Amino acid sequence: MATPQAAILKGPPEQARYLMFDIRAGATAPEDIRQILSQLSAEIDGITAAVGIGAPLVSYLDAEVPGLRSFPAWSGKGVTGVARQSCLWLWLRGSDQGELMHRARRFCQLLAPVFIATDEVQAFKYKEGRDLTGYIDGTENPTGQDAISTAIISNGNPDMEASSFVTAQRWLHNFSAFDAMSQSQKDDAIGRRLSDNEEFGDAPASAHVKRTAQESFDPEAFLLRRSMPWNMGGDSGLQFVAFAHTLDAFEVQWRRMLGLEDGVCDALFQFSCAINGAHFWCPGIVQGRLNLKVLGVE
Ligand code: HEM
Repeated sequence: MATPQAAILKGPPEQARYLMFDIRAGATAPEDIRQILSQLSAEIDGITAAVGIGAPLVSYLDAEVPGLRSFPAWSGKGVTGVARQSCLWLWLRGSDQGELMHRARRFCQLLAPVFIATDEVQAFKYKEGRDLTGYIDGTENPTGQDAISTAIISNGNPDMEASSFVTAQRWLHNFSAFDAMSQSQKDDAIGRRLSDNEEFGDAPASAHVKRTAQESFDPEAFLLRRSMPWNMGGDSGLQFVAFAHTLDAFEVQWRRMLGLEDGVCDALFQFSCAINGAHFWCPGIVQGRLNLKVLGVE
C-alpha cells in the first residue's frame, strides 16, 4: 500500500534545508539518471527527507506525471513572479543546522554523478510558527482528514496513489519598507491583526488573506502550507512551501495575488518579492521506497 511522504502532513520542523538540483550539463544517459534516482529512493524516509520531481526531469525520462507542469512565468501590474523550475527538490528536516548541512552534503555527493545543486537555503522556525514580519503563518491550514484530502492524491491511479504536488517559492522581504509602514498598514497588508491574529471585515481588497481566501475560489482552492523563514547574510524572508493534490490551487491564488484577475495586487508586494518559484511532484512511498514506477525507476 502506498503512503504519503510523512513530512507533508507534519507541521514545519525546528530547522530545515531546501535544495534544488538540475541535470548536469552534457549528455547524461536516462539510464544513469534512473540508477541515481533508485539509489536516492533507498535513502528517503519521507520524514527527515522529502523529495519532489520537476517536470523537466520527467520529460527528459520520456515519462508523464498527470497534472505536473513547470512553474508559470507570470507577472502582474508592476510585480513579477520569477519562475525558476528545476529537476529535483529536497526538503531536509531536523533540529540541528549542522546535522542538516552534513546530510545535504551527503545527498549532493550521492546525486553528483548526474545532478548539480543549483539552489540551497537553510530555513528555521520563528517563535511558534511566524513569518519574520511577526505574523502567524498557517492559521487557516486544513487539519486532520481535511489536510489529507487537500494535499494527498487518491484517484485510483496506482502510480499516483498517496503522492502530492508542491510549490516552492522563495520570498525576499524588504524590512526597510516593512518598518516604514504603520501598524494598521501592516495589518491591512496581511488582513489579520498582529495583536490577536484575528481577521477583520474591513480589510482592503489587496489584503493577503482576501487575495488567497481559499473558499472564495470556484472550485475552492485549499493548500497545505509548510512555509518557513530563511536568512542568508543580510537577506531574509519566507520560503513558501505549499502542498496540494492539484497545482491548480496554487496557480489560481497566485494569479489573484499578481492582480491578473481584477487588477488588484496582493499587498504583500509592498514589502516582499518572489525571487524564485518551482512546482514538483512528491511521489508516494511503497515498501520503504519512493514509488517512481511512472519514471521507469525500480
Ligand atoms: C511573503 C510571502 C507570504 C507571506 C509572508 C504570507 C503570510 C501569510 C499570513 C500571515 C497568513 C495569515 C494566517 C494564515 O492563515 O496562515 C497567510 C494566509 C494565507 N496565505 Fe500566505 N503568505 C505568503 C505567500 C503566500 C503565497 C505565495 C500563497 C499562495 C499563492 C499564499 C497562500 C495563503 C493562503 C491560502 C492563506 C490562507 C487564506 C485563507 O483562506 O484565509 N501565501 N499568509
